[in-house]
Amino acid sequence: MDNINTRGNYVVLNDQRKMDYNYSEALKTLRTNLRFAGEDIKLILFTSCFPNEGKSDIAISLAKELGGIGKKTLFLDTDIRKSALLSRFKVENRENIHGLSEYLSGQVDLRGLIYKTNFPNMDLICAGPSAPDPSGMLEGKKFVSLLQATKDIYDFVIIDTPPIETVIDAAVVAKHADGAIMIIEADAVSYRDAQRAQRQIEMSGCRILGAVLNKVDTSSDRYYNKYSRYGKYSKYGKYAKYGGYYRKPAEESESK
Ligand SMILES: Nc1ncnc2c1ncn2[C@@H]1O[C@H](COP(=O)(O)OP(=O)(O)OP(=O)(O)O)[C@@H](O)[C@H]1O
Ligand SMILES: [Mg+2]
Repeated sequence: MDNINTRGNYVVLNDQRKMDYNYSEALKTLRTNLRFAGEDIKLILFTSCFPNEGKSDIAISLAKELGGIGKKTLFLDTDIRKSALLSRFKVENRENIHGLSEYLSGQVDLRGLIYKTNFPNMDLICAGPSAPDPSGMLEGKKFVSLLQATKDIYDFVIIDTPPIETVIDAAVVAKHADGAIMIIEADAVSYRDAQRAQRQIEMSGCRILGAVLNKVDTSSDRYYNKYSRYGKYSKYGKYAKYGGYYRKPAEESESK
């Protein structure tokens, strides 16, 4: 398994987003915290309560950041139901790109699954075409041995998953991850929802490493005062380590 990436597959990801200064600072903070999370923390799962909270965006940006500092990183997209990664990054000939669903159903082997990318040190496993019973596929031995193999090779495996309140897949994957990061969309997730998601991850035996409060409205003083140590920051991801982030808006204002 030592050299699984030998088929020379390559994908060009066209990142057309403008990287806001504050967003990139928040990502660096996340990156730094992960590096200090412990040597045994390699398989890191990203999830959220609901769709569209920004998991994939933050997960891939982080993978790129980690690769950028020389960490051998794999971005693993487990959203077999509706991954938008290849279209979002305008990947050419995407219909010819193989992914996890094909691997788990025995249509491609491991060497045909991993793609190098134009992002330094960042490889990619795509989700593949949507398939029936994704959670059943992710529960199989083949997925577990894939994770083990990647863990032996990469410094970090960033695992993108669907929202945990919507489908079971993230909880299934969490069983095998070393830690999880929750993405929480500001003002869109209740304390109770966030707690339920946290419990579900923890019941899988996965440790919660922290959370990213995303899509923060910076025109509101509430977040400015509560979360920012340095003053104003952008609507893009803000990293909060351990707890704190679950506080609902009402409680925030009470605690000021
Ligand atoms: N901080 C942000 N500010 C503004 N827009 C954002 C932010 N983060 C993500 N978005 C946008 O929100 C949308 C959803 O992002 P993304 O696909 O990363 O979410 P997701 O949680 O992975 O969704 P899904 O549950 O469908 O997989 C995208 O259009 C993305 O560009
Ligand atoms: Mg996503």
